[in-house]
Amino acid sequence: MNILLLGSGGREHSLVKSLYESSKNKKIFCAPGNPGIEEFAKLINININNNDEVLELCIAEKIELVVIGPEIPLVNGLADFLLENNILVFGPRKKAAQLEGSKKFTKEICKKYNIPTAKFKTFDDETTALEYLKEQLFPIVIKADGLAAGKGVIIAESYKEAEKAVKEIFSGLFKDAGKEIVIEEFLIGEEVSYFIIADEDDFIELTSAQDHKRIGVGDTGPNTGGMGAYSPAPLMNNELKEITVNKIIKPTLKAMKDLGCPYTGILYAGLMITKEGPKLIEYNVRFGDPECQVILPRLKSDLLSLVISSCKNSLKEEIIEWDDRFALTIVMASKGYPNDYKTGYEINGIKKASNQKDIYIYHAGTKKVNDITQTNGGRVLNITSLGKTVKEANKSALSAVNMINWDGSYYRNDIGWRAIKREENE
Ligand code: AMP
Ligand code: GLY
Repeated sequence: MNILLLGSGGREHSLVKSLYESSKNKKIFCAPGNPGIEEFAKLINININNNDEVLELCIAEKIELVVIGPEIPLVNGLADFLLENNILVFGPRKKAAQLEGSKKFTKEICKKYNIPTAKFKTFDDETTALEYLKEQLFPIVIKADGLAAGKGVIIAESYKEAEKAVKEIFSGLFKDAGKEIVIEEFLIGEEVSYFIIADEDDFIELTSAQDHKRIGVGDTGPNTGGMGAYSPAPLMNNELKEITVNKIIKPTLKAMKDLGCPYTGILYAGLMITKEGPKLIEYNVRFGDPECQVILPRLKSDLLSLVISSCKNSLKEEIIEWDDRFALTIVMASKGYPNDYKTGYEINGIKKASNQKDIYIYHAGTKKVNDITQTNGGRVLNITSLGKTVKEANKSALSAVNMINWDGSYYRNDIGWRAIKREENE
């Protein structure tokens, strides 16, 4: 089977490795990919946000299955387009991808199906939004409705900050993604992510993870795409999983069926564990990055078989097995990220670090110039380790991180700190 994987980050490097390790006969292509992915797939440089270019490539390379890593092609309706051309696609159709593509869409489903989430109101004009804000308590959360590359959520501590956010969004800060906004209650609790895989009729629970979105130690400073993660998250005990599945996941899947667009692929629920129980913060319609890099190294089952079963409606026949250790990943980033940073620095030590036991190095923002690996993005490498405890996984990931260097590398040394604190108190 010829497979095309779309994307170029650490998430896609971990996906391609697991697909490659499948016992099924296959040839893997990746667009656009990165130097780490090249070990497992033939790289082809196209614009993956252009559906026609993707179809052209599929025809040229006789692709039978497309695995979509990032959200933009899914929200663009790439799945519908390829399915019409008889190509299997792992990931939801456009309408179902609205679960990530429109915060208003998701909030309205929550309201209709009684799914626990932050109280909210939606607005399409500045004056009414500002009037509403005058009556509210702070902090409050302001969200652009559409995709905004992870920047569309503002936690406003005061009316003044909220007013600034609303005015900026309605002035076009996020272009069309900010034509409507959601204003919602600020939830207090600990965040955790829960993942399932679905076909049109069934779903299988995968596992939990906890991401570290902030740039600074102790979860401080601006938000990033994610500075590290670990899985499973011990916070997500069986009781919380059951509530999440029954009150959040199942009603959402039912809602999508009721709307005539059953959800397929990976569904990632971003949750806040509040005093009243888990509440949905947001959905993502794909694996998280870097959450994927701590989920797949634990997956003992054949990923490609799961992917094909999701596409062919046969998940019922699948059994999922996990390594019972924890996986933890540390993101090595360029100095300055998530703001301005420079690229093109030579990276040393990757080979030595990747030779360590149970260490996986995933490339994210790298490039090869004359056989030398250089930095080429904000998030550069993901160093994943397995350990019997989160503390042990953190320690061995850090020792591998310390073998790698370039001019101006930055990472957080406290990934997993909440779980480690719990382990120490046990
Ligand atoms: P999102 O893009 O929706 O995941 O939001 C980004 C981050 O903003 C989340 O990971 C949370 O840390 C925070 N956030 C979003 N909504 C809320 C909320 N209602 N209450 C508290 N924090 C929130
Ligand atoms: N790490 C957060 C995300 O992938 O959306």
